[in-house]
Amino acid sequence: MANPAEPVGAALEVRAGGVPRAKVLVVDDDPKSLFAMRELLGELGQELMVASSGEEALELALRHDFAVILLDVRMPGMDGFEAAKLIRDAERSKATPIIFLTAAADEMHSMFRGYEVGAVDYLMKPVQPETLKSKVSVFVELQIKSDRLRESEDKLRRLAAHLISVREEERGHIAREIHDELGQVLTGLKMEVTSLAKQLKDPALLEKTNSMCKLIDSTVQTVRKIATGLRPEMLDDMGLIAAIAWQAKEFQKRTGIRCRTKLPPESVRPDIEIATTVFRILQEILTNVARHSRATRVDIDLSVSAEQLTLDVVDNGVGIKDSDLHGKRSLGLLGMQERALLFGGTVSVTGRPGQGTLVAVSIPSHRSLFA
Ligand SMILES: Nc1ncnc2c1ncn2[C@@H]1O[C@H](COP(=O)(O)OP(=O)(O)OP(=O)(O)O)[C@@H](O)[C@H]1O
Ligand SMILES: [Mg+2]
Repeated sequence: MANPAEPVGAALEVRAGGVPRAKVLVVDDDPKSLFAMRELLGELGQELMVASSGEEALELALRHDFAVILLDVRMPGMDGFEAAKLIRDAERSKATPIIFLTAAADEMHSMFRGYEVGAVDYLMKPVQPETLKSKVSVFVELQIKSDRLRESEDKLRRLAAHLISVREEERGHIAREIHDELGQVLTGLKMEVTSLAKQLKDPALLEKTNSMCKLIDSTVQTVRKIATGLRPEMLDDMGLIAAIAWQAKEFQKRTGIRCRTKLPPESVRPDIEIATTVFRILQEILTNVARHSRATRVDIDLSVSAEQLTLDVVDNGVGIKDSDLHGKRSLGLLGMQERALLFGGTVSVTGRPGQGTLVAVSIPSHRSLFA
């Protein structure tokens, strides 16, 4: 049983099955009321904290995330309304539900003022035990559920980050293997065929070796194309700026959509992981332009400063629809956002009907940006 003489403000931690539960704060200047509330709410099996003044409540609200705060209106010094206002003003507790405890005589007046300063509910003193428990339970449940949701969101995000980096690593590895191993074999093969051709007199056989050489040459080209598609060597060797310039040219050649770039000098070399992220996002944007925009022109503008890297890509096509921005099937857009988020960045997509789409990527340059 809780001891009413216990210093107020101390946490009374109740754990069920070793699992930390939601925190509930009770604020009242009357020790008897606090004692009664503790007794009642203790049955809910949550972590209960108490404060005997508005000041103390505010201090606790700044240090803990409460599922709900039960706040007495009439207190000497800072009253419940003032405390609620300050609690609401603080970033950490701005959304914490507050239930006011009011005396019957003040009922109407308290109710209005309470809602004004952000109360979600009010209870009349003396508090009816079942009403109190059921109201508090609703907020406790809500917090436990939203905590679970946040946790699973966090896990999914970490999993996505892991998958992105594993995929990137794998692509780089396969690209190198294909390029080096297959490239070597094909070069060897061509040398053999060439030396064989030198010993041949028969024009029909010479013709055959000639066409074999051509076939080997085109296979070398294909191997290069596949390896570059998996992971452009240029990104690792020449850096992001050169890789974007190359990608823009390739895009224009392949799609016929005019592609202009505004880029910093190639000597600007962002961190390779940020470079990879930006490059992959750009590829995704350009794929969308080619597939969906019906544009005739696209402009790529990259700027890199010590604080941040920004990439703006504008097309002059049909303009992305609002419904596509948050569509369940918009996984390409979601992928871009997740990639940027890994580095604390953002991707914003804006469509102007009939005029085109702007994709603006911004990533902070925490790591060293200049080689
Ligand atoms: N530049 C653009 N202009 C017009 N519409 C666009 C543009 N980019 C995207 N969209 C619209 O937004 C939708 C979502 O794009 P998103 O990249 O997420 O998916 P997707 O390209 O259809 O498929 P994927 O998952 O293969 O990328 C597209 O289906 C398309 O309708
Ligand atoms: Mg796409």
